[in-house]
Amino acid sequence: MKLQKLSYSLLVLLVLVSSAAIAHAQPPVTVYKLRNSHGVETQITNYGGIVISLKVPDRNGKFDDVVLGFKTAQDYMRKNDPYLGAIIGRYGNRIAKGRFTLNGVEYKLAVNNGENHLHGGIKGFDKVVWTGRQIRTKDGPAVVLTYLSKDGEEGYPGNLRVRVVYTLTNKNELKIDYSATTDKDTVLNLTHHSYFNLAGEGNGDILNHELKINADRFVPTDAGSIPTGELRKVSGTPFDFLTSTAIGARINQDEEQLKLGNGYDHTFVINGTAGRLRLAATARETSSGRVMEVWTTEPGMQLYTGNFLDGSLTGKSGKPYPRRSGFCLETQHYPDSPNQPSFPTTTLKKGATYKSTTIYRFITQ
Ligand code: GAL
Repeated sequence: MKLQKLSYSLLVLLVLVSSAAIAHAQPPVTVYKLRNSHGVETQITNYGGIVISLKVPDRNGKFDDVVLGFKTAQDYMRKNDPYLGAIIGRYGNRIAKGRFTLNGVEYKLAVNNGENHLHGGIKGFDKVVWTGRQIRTKDGPAVVLTYLSKDGEEGYPGNLRVRVVYTLTNKNELKIDYSATTDKDTVLNLTHHSYFNLAGEGNGDILNHELKINADRFVPTDAGSIPTGELRKVSGTPFDFLTSTAIGARINQDEEQLKLGNGYDHTFVINGTAGRLRLAATARETSSGRVMEVWTTEPGMQLYTGNFLDGSLTGKSGKPYPRRSGFCLETQHYPDSPNQPSFPTTTLKKGATYKSTTIYRFITQ
């Protein structure tokens, strides 16, 4: 009888321990390989939702990998990597001093960029393991990533359920659909952080890429890259990309904002109606003939010209990544919106659904 009781208790204990282990178990790190009907290929991992590679054709049909990155998912865990190819959250870009007030409560976030909060904090969405699943859609192969960010993670309120769907469409687009819900009012600003080089990763700097940005205004910042609150006209400044201009044409000008950003590291206010998918930017690399269009529902887009890359990282094909060897076009709300009442709101209310779409479309000329 005693023995029976003992073995029963042992069994209960075993069940409890193993269910606790299952509840805390992370999904395994996986790499998904997607290929569309034109032979365009991408590798995406559920670690950080990172786009590891993206191979698109040039004007002669030669495929090159146009995103900076490492060989394996594990490489991103070991290296001190500057968000190469990752999903950024909960808040893409900076929140001043890592503080904001919502419904009368002040929240203190992790501070990881000088005195400010950057890209979701110390362990943002770029460093967590998402639950992933590869599916087929009518538009092309896709990966569905989900993640539950617990109430209080990196200081943010609310249990946030996030879903990101990457679709490699048969129109040669990498389409990213974001959605999220929360059980408490919170703030949210998701983005994607691929560094592009349309001549192929590791093939020199991106200063000759021509860029057109559909923005009459941009967001000037202070020395800590925090917005001053002004939305400044681009006309007459090196931020005027309304007509296609080489990224490097004005980058070293003696101009206050370029100096503060170490080059371009600024949000552009995309013309047209936020919430509607519209063309935000077109980047051209003339030697390959590759052209990338960026379409988004977001109000803004950060142009970051890889100013902090310094050659210390070596990429997947063994080539180093020097300064300005990739550029990011991060579609998002403006930085520090939770502290800037005049900016479009980044508050996500309990019961509401966050939705955002961005498309990187590849063509040749
Ligand atoms: C960008 C940001 C830059 C820098 C970079 C990562 O999104 O605007 O200031 O932090 O990420 O090195």
